[in-house]
Formats: sequence, C-alpha cells, structure tokens
Amino acid sequence: MSKKVLVTGGCGFIGSNFVHYMLEKHPDYGIVVLDKLTYAGKKENLASVMDKIEFIHGDICNKGDVEKAVKDCDFVVNFAAETHVDRSIVDSESFILTEVLGVGRLLEAAKETNVERFVQISTDEVYGSIKNGSFKETDSLNPRNPYAACKAAAELLTKSYFETFNTPILITRTTNNHGPFQNAEKFIPKIVINALRNKPVPIYGNGQQVRDWIYVLDNCEAVDIVLHKGKLGETYNIKGGNEKTNLELVKQILKILGKPESLISFITDRLGHDERYSLDDTKIRNGLGWKPSTTFGDAIKKTVQWYIDNESWWSNA
Ligand SMILES: NC(=O)c1ccc[n+]([C@@H]2O[C@H](COP(=O)([O-])OP(=O)(O)OC[C@H]3O[C@@H](n4cnc5c(N)ncnc54)[C@H](O)[C@@H]3O)[C@@H](O)[C@H]2O)c1
Repeated sequence: MSKKVLVTGGCGFIGSNFVHYMLEKHPDYGIVVLDKLTYAGKKENLASVMDKIEFIHGDICNKGDVEKAVKDCDFVVNFAAETHVDRSIVDSESFILTEVLGVGRLLEAAKETNVERFVQISTDEVYGSIKNGSFKETDSLNPRNPYAACKAAAELLTKSYFETFNTPILITRTTNNHGPFQNAEKFIPKIVINALRNKPVPIYGNGQQVRDWIYVLDNCEAVDIVLHKGKLGETYNIKGGNEKTNLELVKQILKILGKPESLISFITDRLGHDERYSLDDTKIRNGLGWKPSTTFGDAIKKTVQWYIDNESWWSNA
C-alpha cells in the first residue's frame, strides 16, 4: 500500500541516498524532505528527483516547520543531525539543539498525529570504544564525545516516547557509511580529495583506530527493512562487516588512486578519540533477514570513482 514518508535531513549524505533509494524501491510512495540546508545539506543532491518529492526548507527545532512536514505522513525517518565529531568538540551547541530539541519536536509531532512508524537514525558511537568483541543492542551506552552523547540523548528521548506514549518508534545504530554525496570534511572524501590534489592526507594519531565501513546503499536498504519490518520499540545494529584501521583504509584508497603513501601525514590525535567501534549485527540478520550485499573492495572503488567523476560537486571544498 502506498505510504507518505518524511525524510528529515534528506539533503545530507545518507538522507539523500535514502531518498534516491526509496524512490526506486517504492515508486508509489510519496516522499517529503525537511532540511535546514546547513553547510552539510545540499539541495543539488536531490536535483534529479526534485519534481518527484515535496521539499520543505526548515528546521526540526522549529515547531511550525515540523508540524507542517509531519502532517499526513505515515512514516518518519530522522536523518537530520549535526554529524561532525570534530565540530562537536569545538562547539556543541548546534548538536545539543538539533539532536535533542529537534528530535523532541519530531517525536511530539509524531505522537500527536497518525504516524505509523518513526525511525531514529543513530550511530555505533553511542556505545563508546571496545577493545575486543562487539557490542550488542542490549549493551549499555557509553558515548565519549559531545556528538555521540547528543545522539545517545536523542535515542533515550525516542525510547521514552515508546515507553510513555506508545509512540511507534524504532532506532538504528549504524557504523561508518561511505559513498556518494558525503561532505568533503569527512574522512574518506578528505582522503580522496587531498590525494587527487597531491596534498598531504591527514591521519589522526598513529592511525590504528578501528572503524567498520558500510556502503551507504546497503545502509539505506537496512533502514528500509527496519522501517517496514522492525519490531516497534526495538533498536537494531547495522554494520558492513569491514573493520579496518584508519591507516589500512588510507593505504587502500591511495592504491586505488595510484598515489604514493608518502602523501600520508600523521597529525595530533583528536581529543577523546575512541580506539575501536564494533557492532554485533545478529539481531537484524536473524530477526529481519538482512545482511549487506556489497563487498568492501568493490564498494570502496565505487565511492572513490564517484569523487573522481564529480569534481564539480566538491571543488569548492
Ligand atoms: N555518516 C555516517 O557514517 C553515519 C554513521 C552512523 C550514523 N549516522 C547518522 O546518520 C544521519 C545522517 O548522517 P549524514 O552523514 O548523512 O549527515 P550529514 O551531515 O551529511 O547530513 C545531515 C543533514 O541534516 C540536515 N540538518 C542538520 N540540522 C538540521 C535541522 N536542525 N533541521 C533540519 N535539517 C537539519 C543538514 O542540512 C544535512 O542535510 C545522522 O543522524 C548521523 O548521526 C551517520
């Protein structure tokens, strides 16, 4: 049956990929995008589909914008967030506002209307660092930077609406995404762009921090499955199953680009830098029958190629 889906933050990296994915997967669905168009949001990410969606330029912290956007929607998927850890360390205010007040506004609107399912997009960073093994959804949260703490706060608020009001929420915690349309300040785009410009490629500390990487369209598929089939009130880990040290990843990308490792430049480590994030995704695999379909080797080549082919998209960075 046809549904109307509100995608907040739909002009950002994952949100815009999700809009493209949903239009292909569910061509009968109506899509509404609410986006503040911060430095990270680009309307041009949706240029090819603007005639197929309803676009609202607005802020999830603004009650009027949120009520207008949520009205008549069956589903809400909240990607809107401030997302750069380094920025949250310099100034956390916009993170606190968007991740807490903004999520609260969306939940209030969902509670007051006929929203059937509300997915809050969260991150593996809420668990904090783990030396060995992997976090399960039932493990406690231990966020260690202001971005992660704000995302954890957003999750707790979301869950409280389920417990208190029976608001039909779900939460996804995803590992690092890569793919088209990611802002140039983020790790992979920065490596690719600097290397293409033959400029130093910065790596924090010794580069031994471990992250798992998922291709963004795999994540979009997983979010779609959770949106349709997830059990209300539940949280689902989503991962690509590709853990790499930052140094390994940089070397792999330089190899794809045919650039020398001498471009690597080790810089002072990020404050409170978590050593390793790792998720156990048994719940979504066994419970919802989802697993990623791309292999890392192919997907990272596609991502690198996208930045090579779309220089005009990032050339002002
Ligand atoms: N990128 C990753 O690897 C990753 C991993 C796990 C979880 N996440 C989560 O996924 C979501 C999307 O991440 P992303 O990398 O696409 O982020 P992004 O920074 O590329 O995009 C964020 C989008 O939200 C919009 N936005 C910001 N504040 C807003 C507000 N107050 N009102 C309306 N719109 C606002 C921005 O304009 C932008 O379009 C975030 O919630 C993030 O925490 C991202």
